[in-house]
Amino acid sequence: MKKITIQDIIDFKKSKKSFATITAYDYSSAQIVGAANIPLVLVGDSASMVVYGYDTTLPVSMEEMLFVVKAVVRGAGAALVVADMPFLSYQTSLKDAVKNAGRMIKEGGAGAVKLEGGVKLEKHIKHIVDFGIPVMGHVGLTPQSFHQMSGYKMQGKTTVGAKKIIDDAKAVERAGAFSVVLECVPDTLAKQISGLLTIPTVGIGAGKDCDGQIQVFHDVMGLSSSPPPKHAMQYNNGYQNMLLALKKYKADVEKI
Ligand code: KIV
Repeated sequence: MKKITIQDIIDFKKSKKSFATITAYDYSSAQIVGAANIPLVLVGDSASMVVYGYDTTLPVSMEEMLFVVKAVVRGAGAALVVADMPFLSYQTSLKDAVKNAGRMIKEGGAGAVKLEGGVKLEKHIKHIVDFGIPVMGHVGLTPQSFHQMSGYKMQGKTTVGAKKIIDDAKAVERAGAFSVVLECVPDTLAKQISGLLTIPTVGIGAGKDCDGQIQVFHDVMGLSSSPPPKHAMQYNNGYQNMLLALKKYKADVEKI
């Protein structure tokens, strides 16, 4: 089994082949992602909501993230595992950034980390990369800034907003990141940024012209009882299917 490398991800852009990535949070789902030959699996801080049941990504801790990162690494097979850095595990200082990114690699077994932010985080990204840890950036809608953004909204709709996201994406590339997530930005802006950068862009709610796409596992599988976000690419009705299976199991046992 040849493990997917950072260079393999960078090469997707060169080959102009769109690539799929997805989140995972446990051993079993990581095994399915690995079996589907999906090259990159993100242990997203969306674990905060889908695993731990918090309202936003803000409360999840380093310990809670490490717990799920380790499980995914055991199951992911050849896929490159990227560990998301939780809120305030990296923004506070360069020292915290490298210390906590290092924990994701050394204790968690991940192959790279992801963090949110552009121009303001350029030094932090560079510092982590300088210690030999690959970084995936994340610009546009950055859920850890939920309060500052007044909720989850499409970003970069104005000329000023679009310029800020372009500057952020360029800063991420300049700092040495190997790829960047573009979340909830207009399709035309995502296309423009993808053309400007040499590293792959990975879109979610950013149209089809990014170099790759990322989705939340629970959205693709339809695991939530509430409707998925507009940008979700749902391929299964997991919640309903599992509910029916459990009801059938219960009924069968009660007949014994
Ligand atoms: O935490 C997460 O799931 C993410 C993706 C939506 C990119 O950051």
